[in-house]
Amino acid sequence: MLKINKNNKMITKILFCAAEAAPLAKVGGLADVVGSLPEALKAQGLDARILMPAHGSISLKSWKAKKINSFLIKIDKKQERVNIWYIKVKGTSYYLLQNKNYFSGHVYEGDSISKYLFFARAALKALSLLPFKPQVIHAHDFHAASIITELSTQARTGRPGLVLTIHNLQHQGWTEEKALLKFDFCKTDFQVRDKNISNKKTSTWINLLAAGIKSADKITTVSPTYAKEILTPAYGYGLEKLLSSRRKDLVGILNGIDVKTYNPAGDINLAQKYASKDVVAGKQNNKQAVRAYLKLKEDNSPLFVFIARFSNQKGLDLFKAEDLLNLQKKFPFQLVILGSGEEKYEQMILAVNKQLPDNMRTIIAFDETLAHNLYASANYFLVPSKFEPCGLTQMMAMRYGAVPIVRATGGLKDTVIHEKTGLVFKQYTSQAFNRVLKQALLVYYQQPALYKKMRSDGLRQDWSWQASAPEYQRLYQEI
Ligand code: GLC
Repeated sequence: MLKINKNNKMITKILFCAAEAAPLAKVGGLADVVGSLPEALKAQGLDARILMPAHGSISLKSWKAKKINSFLIKIDKKQERVNIWYIKVKGTSYYLLQNKNYFSGHVYEGDSISKYLFFARAALKALSLLPFKPQVIHAHDFHAASIITELSTQARTGRPGLVLTIHNLQHQGWTEEKALLKFDFCKTDFQVRDKNISNKKTSTWINLLAAGIKSADKITTVSPTYAKEILTPAYGYGLEKLLSSRRKDLVGILNGIDVKTYNPAGDINLAQKYASKDVVAGKQNNKQAVRAYLKLKEDNSPLFVFIARFSNQKGLDLFKAEDLLNLQKKFPFQLVILGSGEEKYEQMILAVNKQLPDNMRTIIAFDETLAHNLYASANYFLVPSKFEPCGLTQMMAMRYGAVPIVRATGGLKDTVIHEKTGLVFKQYTSQAFNRVLKQALLVYYQQPALYKKMRSDGLRQDWSWQASAPEYQRLYQEI
């Protein structure tokens, strides 16, 4: 049942504004959330649609997109043509903004600041042309935050409600004032008076995320623990004071995952599909196929898997060749790392791999098919993040019967219970990481009943949006 908000108006029409959404364009977890939450909101009686750039990497033709409108905006005395395309994917409506100068590359290719200030400017114009009139604009991360900042200057009665979700506080969108002016934003709307923020860069710099945080009606982040952590200097990335000042309007809502896509019983990517009841044989067969594919030897050792964007967030610096070699001597294991990103981390992990040539494989790539096969093959799934707003891979791993090993931070802390559904370590040090790896190996070799119990308890968890979608629905009504 829908609740009526305080103005006696039912809030049903929501427009998500974001940089990426799966399956159209995916770089990280943001895309999974933006691409799957609208469907879950539909089950709550809401009509949530998505507005995003028509990145050059999206084939409008093969998605059978329809051009529904076109307009010009003036940037730096130059007219820019923007076409609005419409697509319906798995029941969700998308409006895609196409422009050849700003959106011809992939999601974060090129200058992200100009790209997303342009996106905000084009989105603001598109709002008046869309056949859909949203009651709430739900912006995600700094890429869409400027839409909120500008709309917030209008009287509340004449504008939609404004929700900003922070998926990752590390990316804030710092820019110079002159860039704002170029895209016709008024710099005073973006000024945030907070010593922490202005200390970081001189006052000629603007923080797009901070401006959005200041002006949104409600702010959400993607897990209850991260919502608390970001109020502290250790996790707030300089925005902790601003966030604390908005504490009353800040809420942490745990992400769900698309349990239809991440389902070993129906996953067409897998060498062999399997249901919970035949998890042992299913995983064994997939592990065999992955080992053959990656030229790893067939034995009874456990397979550890790590899949992530390579950045300072993900704990790649915790992998130490010497520690892994020492563990390997007593308790053989195999390790597969899949991901790509910052060159520094790619080099770091390849150097570790060099010392474990027989038992470790590193695949520098973004490869969804391989990722699914790895979830299905893994005995343990590693998420040793320094910080993790939510983290989706630990939930995906549990769906496939891979036992997660995570650090106690953000959404990892909220989703994995130590020695119940996985193993959890606290300190961000390679010693603590090494200790938990050792415990995992001891459990695997010497306490098989505990290993089995963790796996089956993990498999039983419900990671669908069923719990969280109603929380968003409640939040929209509160604005
Ligand atoms: C970002 C965060 C990740 C979160 C995802 C979706 O990628 O780093 O923790 O799960 O967004 O909200």
